[in-house]
Amino acid sequence: MANETLRPATPEERRRGFATTRPPDAVQRYSTGERLTHWAVALAYVVLFLSGLALFHPFFYWLSLGFGTPTFMRILHPFVGVALAVLFAAYAARLWRENLLLPSDRAWMRGALGYVNGREETPVEGKYNAGQKAMYWSMIVMILGLLVTGILVWRPYFAPSVPLLGRRIAMVIHAIFAFIMFVGIGIHIYAAIWTRGSVRAMTRGWVTRRWARYHHPGWYDRMSRREPVR
Ligand code: HEM
Repeated sequence: MANETLRPATPEERRRGFATTRPPDAVQRYSTGERLTHWAVALAYVVLFLSGLALFHPFFYWLSLGFGTPTFMRILHPFVGVALAVLFAAYAARLWRENLLLPSDRAWMRGALGYVNGREETPVEGKYNAGQKAMYWSMIVMILGLLVTGILVWRPYFAPSVPLLGRRIAMVIHAIFAFIMFVGIGIHIYAAIWTRGSVRAMTRGWVTRRWARYHHPGWYDRMSRREPVR
């Protein structure tokens, strides 16, 4: 399977691999519901990122103008945070099984540098490679951490019943988690754009057979058993 996966593409496959219209034998990767949830999470993240920066430091205060008034932005930020957590929980609940760690993920991690340089050294067994799984689990930790610390400092609802020291510690952890999430999402977006055909999987829902066989051969095999290759 590995040799089949890593052999160079034929001109026909290359054409189909970069197709922009759905080939008749395309493989479905995401349902409409999954895509809508993912992009709703992404939109919520952009709102949180911009408002969070404006709240974090006066240097970014001008960003609050995009929300109408700074007061409205401050009220909006925690509500959007809760919305992101709920949407992400719905999205993550559909994906958890495919993100369970497999023994081959360790080997993939060791060859991750090769992957970055465009060489798939370790065939991926599941729907996601170990890098994507790391992103999935770290986002769960980060979003949970941001939700809990955010609630602790949420005025006027919860903050008044939290001691000052508790609120201060929560605020520092909130900022650290937000920064880690920013780096993680940055890598996620970079990898999505750089892996040709990935963004289309999340916008249109399908990938070409060549894409599936090259990036996720184990998942492709499983899909092929269900829908025979033409
Ligand atoms: C606007 C920026 C974003 C872009 C361009 C983007 C792009 C993508 C693409 C193309 C995929 C499909 C990858 C594949 O199936 O191989 C994907 C999957 C995924 N995205 Fe995003 N995404 C964005 C924002 C986010 C945000 C904000 C989150 C979470 C907070 C997120 C969480 C995920 C997760 C969990 C997956 C499933 C794959 C995995 O476990 O890594 N994405 N994204």
